[in-house]
Formats: sequence, C-alpha cells, structure tokens
Amino acid sequence: MNREELESLLAEKKRKDRPYTHVLSSMCTYPHEVAVYAHRMFIESNLGDSGLFPGTKEMEDEAVRMIGALLGNENACGYITTGGTESNIQAIRAIRNRKRKEGLRNNDMNIIVPETAHFSFDKIADILSIEVRKAGLDHQLRVDLRSVEELMDEHTISLVGIAGSTEFGQVDPIKELAEIAEDRGIFLHVDAAFGGFVIPFLPERERSKYRFDFSLDGVSSISIDPHKMGMSTIPAGCLLFRDESYLKELAVPTPYLTTREQYSLIGTRSGASAAATFAVLKYLGIEGLHAVVEECMRLTRFLVDGARRLGIQPVIEPVTNVVTLQLADRDVDRTVHALRERGWEVSTTRSPKALRMVIMPHVTEELLKQFLEDLSDVYASN
Ligand SMILES: Cc1ncc(COP(=O)(O)O)c(C=O)c1O
Repeated sequence: MNREELESLLAEKKRKDRPYTHVLSSMCTYPHEVAVYAHRMFIESNLGDSGLFPGTKEMEDEAVRMIGALLGNENACGYITTGGTESNIQAIRAIRNRKRKEGLRNNDMNIIVPETAHFSFDKIADILSIEVRKAGLDHQLRVDLRSVEELMDEHTISLVGIAGSTEFGQVDPIKELAEIAEDRGIFLHVDAAFGGFVIPFLPERERSKYRFDFSLDGVSSISIDPHKMGMSTIPAGCLLFRDESYLKELAVPTPYLTTREQYSLIGTRSGASAAATFAVLKYLGIEGLHAVVEECMRLTRFLVDGARRLGIQPVIEPVTNVVTLQLADRDVDRTVHALRERGWEVSTTRSPKALRMVIMPHVTEELLKQFLEDLSDVYASN
C-alpha cells in the first residue's frame, strides 16, 4: 500500500470512531492539548527500560510526587500505570505477596470490596487466585460497613473502598473503612481511579465529608487515573503506596536492562503518557484542574435540574460528575436505544437499573440542552 492509500484508509477508519462530543457514557475524554504535545514528543520513550530515558523517568517521578501531594502525601511512592485496572491489580498483588511471605496460601486469602466495585476486581480474583467478597450497600449505594465487618475473617488481607464508583460516582465511607482497617491491622486500598481527580477539587464542605486520601492514617494505597479526569493521554493510571515497602513487594529483577529491578505489571511501557500526565499537571496546576472540575460539576447539576423538570429523578444526588436517572416505569434499554438513534451515547447501571451519563470535560451546556430536549421527546413517547 502506498502512503496516500494508507492515509485514506486511516481516515476511513477514523470516521467510524465516535468523536467524544456526543458521548456521555465514557470516563475518558479528549486529552488536554499540552498532553498531546508531550505525548508526541516522548512517543518512543520506554519506561520499562528507564535508564535509557532518564528525562522521562524524572517526569514520571515528578508526576507521582505531584499526585501524592494532591492526595495528602507527597512522599507516597508508586508509578504511572496503564490505568485503574493495573493499579488495582498491583495494589492487591503487593499485599498478597506480603501475606504469602508471612505463610498464608493464595487460596485461603480474601479481600472485601463493595458490590459496586469495578470489574477489574473480578480479574484480580482470577489472576491472583484469591477470593473477592462483595459487601452490600446502604440506601445511598455506599458500602455498608456492617456487611464489610460480617465478611471479614482472619484470612482477610485487604479492604477496598471506592472514591467515585464507576456506575454512580458515589464515594464509600473511606474514613470509617480506614478506622476498621487500622483497628484490625489490615491493608486498605482506595480505588479513586475516577474520583481521585474530582474530589480534591470539590468545595471544602464536600471535601471534608468525602475524605478518601492519605490524610487518613488507615489508607494504604490509592489508584487514581490521569487518563480519566486528569485529561492525560491513554494509557495513564497511577498507583500510590503510603509505604515504600509495599512497592518493593512487586520488585522483579531485570537482568539485561538498564535498571536492576522493575515494579510495574507491564514490561515495555509508555513514557509518552507519563510525559503527558506530567505536562497537564504542570500546565493546569491545582487552579486549572479545579476549574475543570468546577465546570463539570456545574453541568452535572444543570443536567439533574433539567431532568427533574421533566419529572425524572436522579438515583442519588450526584457526588461526582456522574448522573444516574430513574426512568420509573419506562424501559431503560429502549430509552438508551432511542437516544442512540438520535446520536447520543449513554449507558446504564445494573442495580438499580438506570440511565447513566458521565459529565466529562468535553460536555458543554449547549450539548446538554440538546440532550434534554431529546430525552424529553424519548421519555414522552416511550
Ligand atoms: C472506579 C474504577 N476503577 C477502575 C477502573 C478501571 O480503569 P481502566 O479502565 O483505566 O483500567 C475504572 C474504569 O472506569 C473505574 O471507574
């Protein structure tokens, strides 16, 4: 194929992809322009062999330090992962490895996650051969602490709390989970893949209500994804441990490379997205990220208010920029289908079954006005 033909083939494929503009179902968005710039500049950089790319490594370390500072501990240690899935796997793998050294066998170990946990925890059960127990929820779809305590036993190696659940954007009572974890001397992993770049920028009253980070002594590790609300390029997650000794549990010797050992799950890994993450954090800073979240939350309320005017109630009052709407006796799947026919990509939750929209930085007020008009028509005729 010559170059011209190839370019036209690529353009044809690109036209088949959905632009994010009418996508309300995704936790990803257009990366920030400085992220794209940095990504391109470091496109060939491989952090799996970081001795060859000391400049990129410096950016990764600095990005980790900045994210740690955002989460209440600039000495937290970790690395830029490929996303929430890798971060979650690695956090649990670290504590699993520690417990194995102490004599526990994989098949005996269990962790306790909320029912709302992301499906990456099902992969964890499979890959790490440990039992993943699912705790019930309270009426606000937060993990029920009584259920957590009932499921705990002497083989429980970790609790997991979610700060910004995938389906509802809800935040578990992390402070209380941290107290339980501390009392019992158990590891607590917080999955803030989505909420990690949202909650720190909410108004002070909400920030103190939804504490989830290393400022709570019982929090051992955190997943937070720059490629979601951090506006970096894909793949960019971040895993942070309070205590470096847990990162060391992941070390594998790396003969023939420029480094002695490696902590990541992935071998060859993108330095470009680490550079992109660094670039967004440096360029936007706390103020810039704050402005992004403020606008997403304003539009989240705009959508909820508009839905209420149509007689449609939210499942919960949004805590982060995820809106879930109860459609009373209407068929949710049919509504999704009808909205798709009008060009909208929305998703659904499982229980309760509801319409789900994520208000990412590419969403505008104008767009939501059009969406509400279409929702109104579809709702009336459904
Ligand atoms: C709370 C939470 N954790 C983990 C993940 C997995 O992240 P990724 O798809 O980047 O692996 C997601 C993805 O939506 C999520 O919402």
